[in-house]
Amino acid sequence: MTLLVTGGAGFIGSNFVLDWLAGSDERVINVDKLTYAGNLQNLASLAGDARHVFVQGDIGDASLLASLLAQHQPRAVVNFAAESHVDRSILGPGEFIQTNIVGTFNLLEAVRAYWGGRDSKAKTAFRFLHVSTDEVYGSLSKTDPAFSETNRYEPNSPYSASKAASDHLVRAYHHTYGLPVLTTNCSNNYGPFHFPEKLIPLIIVNAQAGKPLPVYGDGQQIRDWLYVKDHCSAIRRVLEAGSLGETYNVGGWNEKPNLEIVHTVCALLDELRPRADGKPYKDQITYVTDRPGHDRRYAIDASKIEKELGWKPAETFDTGIRKTVQWYLENPDWVASVQSGGYRDWVSKQYGEASAETTHL
Ligand code: NAD
Ligand code: DAU
Repeated sequence: MTLLVTGGAGFIGSNFVLDWLAGSDERVINVDKLTYAGNLQNLASLAGDARHVFVQGDIGDASLLASLLAQHQPRAVVNFAAESHVDRSILGPGEFIQTNIVGTFNLLEAVRAYWGGRDSKAKTAFRFLHVSTDEVYGSLSKTDPAFSETNRYEPNSPYSASKAASDHLVRAYHHTYGLPVLTTNCSNNYGPFHFPEKLIPLIIVNAQAGKPLPVYGDGQQIRDWLYVKDHCSAIRRVLEAGSLGETYNVGGWNEKPNLEIVHTVCALLDELRPRADGKPYKDQITYVTDRPGHDRRYAIDASKIEKELGWKPAETFDTGIRKTVQWYLENPDWVASVQSGGYRDWVSKQYGEASAETTHL
C-alpha cells in the first residue's frame, strides 16, 4: 500500500513522513516543490530507505500529479503543501493564491480523474485528506467560545483566505463528485524542523544570536499551541477512522498570549543555555509594529475528534516546549543551513523598517 503526501519536506509534512515510517512500512511518495520552506535535510534520516520516494514537483502541475498517481496507485493523498506564513501573505499574496487555491484545485482535478478510474473496492477505500488551519474561522474575542467545526468561515489575511478557499474546493469535490475527502483544521503547531520565521523558532534562534526578540503590538494576542507530533497523530487517526466529507478541528487546549510564550522560551534558555553575561534572555524582548489585521485570539474546541475518534495529544505545553527548545539547541547545523541568503532578505524586509516602540522589558 502507498500514501502520496504533498509538502512533505516542510515543517509538519516532514514530521508526518518521519512518524509515519517509524510506525508503518507503507510506502510514502513525497511530492514537494522545495520552496524556501521545504528542506530535504528534515528527511535525512530516511536516506537510502526504499519506503520513501521523494519527487520535487508542484501540486499545480496536474500532468506530473496524474503520472505519479497512475504509477504509484496510492490508497490516500494527504495534502500539506501550501504557502504557510501569514506575514509573507501580507507582503505578497500572489504565491498564496497560486499554491493554496490554484494548486489545490489542480491537485483535486488530478485526484478526481485517478479516483474515478479505480475499481469499486479501491474507490471506496480511497481518501483525500486536506490539512488546513484554524485561521479560516477568523478572530475570537476574549470571551467567545473556542472554534467548533460549525463556526462560520471569516478569514482575515490573504493566507487564511487562500486556505479557506482551498477548504471550500475540497468540500465541493465531495458534494459534487463524491470524492472521499477529510479535512483537518488545526491550531498553531510547534516542534522540530519549524522554520525560524515563525514565532517560537524565531525567538529561540534570535535569543541565542543575541538579537532582538520581536513581539508584535502589545503581545497579548492569543494562540492555541499543539506539539507537531500530536498534529501528526491526529491526521493519522482521521485518515484511519474519519467520516467522509467531515471536518475535524485539532488542538490541545493550550491557549497562551504571545508574550507568555516568549517569556517561557526565554526562561527555558536561561536554564538550558544561560547567556554568557548572566543576564536573562527576556532583556532582548523588543516591541515592534503590529501585524496588519492581526487576529486577536484563536482557540480550538477539539471535542469532536476526541469524542468521535478517541484522539488525544500526548504532550502538554510544558513537555512539548521543553523538547522543542532542546531540539534547537542540539541542532545548530540545521538552523545555520536554513538561514540562507533568501531568508536573510526576508528578515530585513519584515523587520528592517519596523519601528521598535519599546525595548528591553
Ligand atoms: P511549511 O511552510 O513549513 O511547509 C510547506 C511545504 O509545502 C514546504 O515543504 C514547501 O516546499 C511545500 N510547497 C509549497 N508550495 C508548494 C507547491 N506549489 N507544490 C508542492 N509543494 C509546495 O508549512 P507547515 O507549517 O508545515 O504547514 C503544512 C500545512 O499545514 C499547510 O497547509 C498549513 O496551512 C497547515 N497548517 C499549519 C499550521 C502551523 O502551525 N504550521 C497549523 C495548522 C495548519
Ligand atoms: O493557527 C494556525 C496557523 O499558525 C497556521 O495556519 C500558519 O501556517 C502558522 O504560520 C501559524 O500562524 P500564526 O500567524 O499564528 O503564526 P506565527 O508564528 O507567524 O505567529 C504567532 C503569533 O506570534 C502571532 O500572533 C504573531 C506573533 N508574532 C510572530 C512573529 C513571527 C510576533 O509577535 N513576532 C514575530 O516576530
